[in-house]
Amino acid sequence: MEQRPLPHRIVYLSPAGTTRLAAETIADQLKALNQTVELFDLSSLIQAGSRAAVYAAWPATCCLWIGSPVYCDHALPIVEDFIRNLPDGCHGFSIPFATYGGVTSGLTLPEMAELLGQRNFTPLAAAKILALHSSTWCAPKPLAAGHPSADELQQLRSLVVAVEKKLMDQPPAALERSLLNYLPEEMQQSSAAKSLALVKRALPPLKIDQTLCTQCGTCAQGCPMGCIDLRPYPEIRSECIRCLQCVRNCPEGAFNFDPEPLQSRILELSVLSEEEQISQFFT
Ligand SMILES: Cc1cc2nc3c(=O)[nH]c(=O)nc-3n(C[C@H](O)[C@H](O)[C@H](O)COP(=O)(O)O)c2cc1C
Ligand code: SF4
Ligand code: SF4
Repeated sequence: MEQRPLPHRIVYLSPAGTTRLAAETIADQLKALNQTVELFDLSSLIQAGSRAAVYAAWPATCCLWIGSPVYCDHALPIVEDFIRNLPDGCHGFSIPFATYGGVTSGLTLPEMAELLGQRNFTPLAAAKILALHSSTWCAPKPLAAGHPSADELQQLRSLVVAVEKKLMDQPPAALERSLLNYLPEEMQQSSAAKSLALVKRALPPLKIDQTLCTQCGTCAQGCPMGCIDLRPYPEIRSECIRCLQCVRNCPEGAFNFDPEPLQSRILELSVLSEEEQISQFFT
């Protein structure tokens, strides 16, 4: 017998905080509707064994909201892996949500929906949320600055209400997945050819100027992948996702990193992109 109402679980990774804001907005609205909800920040589940503990206590059935920033046209690998490794025998409903920085949301939502469906978490809805492009934080004109706006967050709350209404039906109506194929075919193909792994290979490694570094550890504490070791200067392991939070947070400016060429390229790509720079909510 299925537990009714279904417990809600919200899982996300959010290097720069926008996906967390979306996750917390969803949680607030669910609580306002008297729902049971638990939030899981994947950056606090990096250590070996901590994700296993979450899976071990995973309910037989639940409504899973799962959020990722768009990185190089896809969800973050750690978010996709979380879905892939959901325990066998568990099932339920799902709502993938993605924040993106005004270049393209790429294949993030259709791919997350596909994976969730494969793990027996039927997608009921989805959201792509326009958000400040976190790589352009110090550009003269940061991309998608001011997003998500109060109005966009209100639309996200309305999505939560719509999902709750769906869940009252037996069975709840699944999301029409073709709604997520909103990109023109050509853009879908170019997104399919991109990946964070390829971009990482093309970039020089992040380096620290030891004459400036005070070994304070701020970069390591704020790394969402927990992949900076102080030995005693910071060393970056291969799990790095290039979120640049370490560069951004270092009080000494000790990273040898000039953001200007990257930011110019991102602005160019956003101008070339055929995707309308808006938030969209699918039910
Ligand atoms: C390495 C990297 C790759 C990104 N790739 C894309 C992208 O392909 N398309 C896009 O619109 N935004 C892209 N962004 C911007 C993020 O998707 C956006 O800023 C997101 O809201 C960040 O979420 P967070 O605040 O939860 O970290 C990228 C950001 C980084 C750091
Ligand atoms: S935050 Fe900067 S100064 Fe502090 S340990 Fe990291 S690189 Fe060094
Ligand atoms: S090392 Fe820096 S860029 Fe890499 S994941 Fe950690 S904070 Fe992000």
